[in-house]
Amino acid sequence: MSEEKVAMRMVGRVAVVESDNQPVNALGHAVRKGLFDNVSAAAADAGVDAIVIACKGRTFHAGADITEFGKPPQEPGLVEVIELIEACEKPVVAAIHGTALGGGLELALGCHFRVAVPSAKVGLPEVKLGLLPGAGGTQRLPRLIGAVAALEPIVKGDPIPAPRAAELGIIDAVAEGDLVEAAVKMAEAKAAEGGPLPRISQMRTPPTDMEAFEAEAGRLLSRSRGLKAPATCAQTVRNAITMSFADGTAQERALFAELRDGPESKAQRHAFFAEREANKVPGVTKDVKPRPVNRIAVLGAGTMGGGITMSFASAGIPVTIIDLNPEALERGMGVIEKNYRNTQRRGGLTEAQVDAALANITASSDFDSVAEADMVIEAVFENMDLKKKIFKDLDAKCKPGCVLASNTSTLDVDEIAAVTSRPEDVVGMHFFSPANVMRLLEIVRGEKTAPDVLKTAMDVGKKGGKIPVVVGVCYGFVGNRMLHARGAQIEPMLLEGASPSEIDGALTKFGMAMGPLAMSDMAGLDVGYRIRQESGRKAPVNDAICEMGRFGQKTGKGWYLYEEGSRRPIPDPEIDALIARVAKEQGVTRREFSEQEIFERLMFPMINEGAKTLEEGVALRASDIDVIYLYGYGFPVGQGGPMYYADQVGADYICERLDHYADVTGTESLRPCALMRKLAAEKSTFAAAKAA
Ligand code: 3HC
Ligand code: NAI
Repeated sequence: MSEEKVAMRMVGRVAVVESDNQPVNALGHAVRKGLFDNVSAAAADAGVDAIVIACKGRTFHAGADITEFGKPPQEPGLVEVIELIEACEKPVVAAIHGTALGGGLELALGCHFRVAVPSAKVGLPEVKLGLLPGAGGTQRLPRLIGAVAALEPIVKGDPIPAPRAAELGIIDAVAEGDLVEAAVKMAEAKAAEGGPLPRISQMRTPPTDMEAFEAEAGRLLSRSRGLKAPATCAQTVRNAITMSFADGTAQERALFAELRDGPESKAQRHAFFAEREANKVPGVTKDVKPRPVNRIAVLGAGTMGGGITMSFASAGIPVTIIDLNPEALERGMGVIEKNYRNTQRRGGLTEAQVDAALANITASSDFDSVAEADMVIEAVFENMDLKKKIFKDLDAKCKPGCVLASNTSTLDVDEIAAVTSRPEDVVGMHFFSPANVMRLLEIVRGEKTAPDVLKTAMDVGKKGGKIPVVVGVCYGFVGNRMLHARGAQIEPMLLEGASPSEIDGALTKFGMAMGPLAMSDMAGLDVGYRIRQESGRKAPVNDAICEMGRFGQKTGKGWYLYEEGSRRPIPDPEIDALIARVAKEQGVTRREFSEQEIFERLMFPMINEGAKTLEEGVALRASDIDVIYLYGYGFPVGQGGPMYYADQVGADYICERLDHYADVTGTESLRPCALMRKLAAEKSTFAAAKAA
């Protein structure tokens, strides 16, 4: 079997050992065995002077095979393969293209030399899966480039472009032209030199300035949201300073196993596969080709239009931003330029990158400019009549085949599509604010949306750095609809006795980036107030706060107090008194809340609403909902997303609690939906229901 995945061929007296395990040459059992057998054979063959390790297809080994985690280990392990390579008496050169990630880079670090094409990237992204590099990476990288420099690649896990990797000393050469040819040349030269071979495991970590090390570790960990893996990664790098290679790797292996078998890594691996699964959309088969998009027009230069424009301009796609109000257009362009320059000042982009992005943007107050676009993304005021008028005009002005997208957050995409003569070209592209930062993109599939239009929206979204998830038409789509179910519990709990900071605290303790009330203060309370006034809906506490002129951070007061220039929410006794007064007016008896109850009353209705979107087919799969919450709502990655979390807690417990809260509050909308009850009755999970 192994011969199928790894083959050896001779180029002169150099053995080229080449893996072919598409799509990413993951180091599964057959590959490890093939590498082990072929390298052993080449090492023993007197006709071989040196060895090159290379890969076919689009990339060098992109890591261990994650699907094997949790299954019984099969020999040879990756560590054995790497040890065999490093111990080889003949020079071994890794020839890297695409991405050498995780176990792939660890294997390359076991080789004596590394050469890469300029477009290659190398990295140790294990931390993003809740792991640490478990095949010697935490001990070899610090020995090669120094412990301080090794911290960021290991604790943060971002890939490093080949030219930078060469500067850091991770790779020995960047090769223009044919990669394998260059690697063979290097191997021949090293064999001819006949000098001692560099074996990283035998090197000492260069002397480390411990103060600088701890400062760098502290800087990196301050952004790791309390996850276990980053701190453990930093510890293993520290071990490379203080321990022998043997002790360091023994520790590394033990800690790797601990993380791999722990809940956070399981959740993060779920998230990894969920994100990839979201690409698979019924009806959008491999042979559906996206339409070419060489220019995008964005309608509306407001909050969303500006952010959407930036996403695509930064990705090198020409964008025409159109606002009929010249002042709004000028203001919008000003905000875009200011945002870019701020990023540049903070070191996120170079001046040349900002200039290039700005050069991709054309501002226009002439609606007819839409005629040049292959895709139009409408982001004007949230008003059905206005959107209908605009889509009628787009239908008249846009070229045939142009994708007509709306960024509406609540309106019916089918109703909008129906005013055009080409409903198959209409799709929702629901970005999240700030659109140049947030990665989630809900793609709303209308009843008539053509498969190639969906594919185009997904592809273009990805080019703009987004994670697209396809959803169906309904009020609020998936993400906001679930958020409304959560929001509906806030006022009642406040009246019954929970404080704003207790409500926010129940979610931030769970790992959410922010609680709902601090979030409202950030977004501003006035918009919701105005909408409630127009629609006649009431939110007694929220309304009373707004009537005091407290609109959140922008007025220095909202649910909380804010000190001048600070975004830190401070609980305000005035608000506690106000809530008590409103509760009295409403005749609500107040009581103490446990953190658990607050948490359940926020989280479980959300999960229940998610299950409803599954029943209705608005969400395609539970894991899609997880992707939506991880990328659009700051759900803690170590919890895997709301539906994954529900599976860990158990549908039976959630149903029992929802029934309980429905009973004690007299709120029928809290009752579990049929799908939740079915899972509870069958003691099943969303994951199992999907697999079945
Ligand atoms: N194991 C198993 N399957 C993998 C995999 C891996 N390490 N990496 C990718 N795949 C699968 C994906 O699930 C996907 O499968 P599908 O087509 O059935 O959905 C397929 O390969 C293609 O992946 P992408 O869609 O992500 O392809 P891209 O070209 O967009 O990206 C990539 C390629 C950058 C390599 C990206 O797949 C990636 O980041 N992979 C994970 C890299 C990683 O985390 N490596 C470390 C693994 S842990 C490890 O090595 C432990 C070691 O220290 C002991
Ligand atoms: P905004 O009020 O900031 O901007 C709207 C812009 O549209 C204004 O600049 C206005 O001059 C312009 N405009 C109005 N009529 C126009 C026309 N006929 N042609 C061209 N431009 C016109 O609004 P915002 O917040 O950017 O929202 C836009 C859309 O995005 C809405 O549908 C909203 O529901 C949706 N959305 C908003 C989110 C948010 O957080 N603000 C999140 C996701 C979606």
